[in-house]
Amino acid sequence: MHPSTFHPADLIPLPGYARLRTVGSFEELASTSFGAAVNSGTGFQPVDQVHRLEADATSSRPGINALCWPRSLAGDFGEIVTQLGAGEGVEAHDETRLEALALSPAGAAARAILLADLQLLRDRGLAPELNVIHAYPRDAADALVTTDVHSFHADSAPAEAATWLCTYHGRPSDGLRNEEARRRVDVPATRAALLRDYGGPDDAGFREFLREHHYDLHYAPEPGAQPFSFGLGHLWRIALDWPGSAVPPCLHRAPLPLPGDPPRLLLIS
Ligand SMILES: [Fe+2]
Repeated sequence: MHPSTFHPADLIPLPGYARLRTVGSFEELASTSFGAAVNSGTGFQPVDQVHRLEADATSSRPGINALCWPRSLAGDFGEIVTQLGAGEGVEAHDETRLEALALSPAGAAARAILLADLQLLRDRGLAPELNVIHAYPRDAADALVTTDVHSFHADSAPAEAATWLCTYHGRPSDGLRNEEARRRVDVPATRAALLRDYGGPDDAGFREFLREHHYDLHYAPEPGAQPFSFGLGHLWRIALDWPGSAVPPCLHRAPLPLPGDPPRLLLIS
């Protein structure tokens, strides 16, 4: 493992976090439903301890919203990234490109895993992408609410769906417990600034304004929050925000790159 990618929270599962369930196979990962109540008595805070200014209710609905298939993958994924070459931004690579790489046995082992994972997801009717991430677009530093992927956020969809992801190389994604999060639009100073920008009252139109700009999908960690790492090699299926979801979405972010970090190699669907 690259030294810069080690994270002490790579230990899965997280003791006492009842929204996360680990599974033992891809089949179990794909077939387990979100929302099954697993209240160990340690994973949830009473609702009245959750700071919210309006009833977004995301923190009050119990149930699993993150499924993880922990894996220890053999193979040199760094070699894959190196062989795919320099670039910028987010670059998607398909099987044809992978198969054309000249690799050592360790690199070939990594490639076989990537091809198998892509096939597993395609066989489920999904459209996975294998991305090498040199850098993500960033919001301006003075944005009222940061809405880039380095901010904790919920993915969203108009109908039932889930996000699948695995980091093979580079810094893994981070997660944030719903009970340790607060919507950025519910922070009074932020909401006041957004209202000034909107130029109207705090009404249905304002809430639509928040939705249009995706402001309402972004979350701030509460003081003392302890984000966790999605780790390397583990395949995750996480709940997103869609109408009718039984559980709050799993909050996550792309890690901020540190100087010298290698590009990330990420499977996402
Ligand atoms: Fe996301």
